[in-house]
Amino acid sequence: MSSRVKETGEEKGIVFRDLPLSIMRINERYDFDIYLQIRGDYRLFAAKGALFTDQHTKLLADGSIRLYVKNEEWDKVEEYQINYLSRILADPSVNSHDKASVAFTASMKSIREIFHSVESRTIRDVEKNAEEMVQLILSEEEVMENLVWIESHDHFTYQHSVRVGIYATALTIKLFNDKLTKQEMAALSAGYFLHDIGMAQVPMRVLEKSHPLTPSEWGLIRMHPMWGYDRLLETGHLTPEAAAIVLSHHERHDGSGYPFAREGDGIPAYAKICAIADTFESLTASRPYRKSVKPFHALKIMQQEMAAEFDAEMFKSFILLLGPGS
Ligand SMILES: [Fe+2]
Ligand SMILES: [Fe+2]
Repeated sequence: MSSRVKETGEEKGIVFRDLPLSIMRINERYDFDIYLQIRGDYRLFAAKGALFTDQHTKLLADGSIRLYVKNEEWDKVEEYQINYLSRILADPSVNSHDKASVAFTASMKSIREIFHSVESRTIRDVEKNAEEMVQLILSEEEVMENLVWIESHDHFTYQHSVRVGIYATALTIKLFNDKLTKQEMAALSAGYFLHDIGMAQVPMRVLEKSHPLTPSEWGLIRMHPMWGYDRLLETGHLTPEAAAIVLSHHERHDGSGYPFAREGDGIPAYAKICAIADTFESLTASRPYRKSVKPFHALKIMQQEMAAEFDAEMFKSFILLLGPGS
């Protein structure tokens, strides 16, 4: 589909795409035909339905031969990547670029699923505006490292982080693109992706709980902005942008948020953007223990029941970015 498609070759009208060898899992089945290019011709190397084995990787070990898949089967490659996402992300032999691309593919697929009922402009906008920046951010080793850390603790927080990262980056580009340097934009985007990094310190039993949390469990959740700040400080990843976002993304425009109950202009602008993206993602994402709402409905809830919590101008821009038929 989009510009992200890397068309690496064409033969008799059939388009082939690059398949990074590093995403293939040993001794797992795959559901797409894998080709090699030999003297300009594409030849079947491994037929779908078989196991990808050590033998296959040995044949390709010197790195001079590249693998390809027909474009029409790329959906199956995406599914495969999503199935093995956590293993691919945790695999030290997969480079950051390939991890970034798997993380991006999986997130955009789930964002498309969230929006499948809405006019597709939404997705085109997100992809067009934020794709390049998001790919760049996810390619940074330290951002990916931290996301892998979250993923190893809790898959849902990981998914949430990446989607919030994409929405908030898109909104920042819409609002401030001409006022920010590329470096500033990149630092902000990294902050959005890592906004909930402190959640990795909240015990699993609290994150997985299906019934209402006790006050002391809420107390643990409410620590995550501070824990996130500490984690970035300890690992040397604390930029001023990430600090503002991680610490203040639960502050609310009307002063009802935490940890400092700041209000209005007392809250850093980028934390306010993150708050909007964060709330929207939480409402629309499905979790095993909680029903999700459709994007249009989520925007309506935010407008009718929560408007005082958000910066009005920023929220208006968010609706313009994501609202149906906008
Ligand atoms: Fe959070
Ligand atoms: Fe969040």
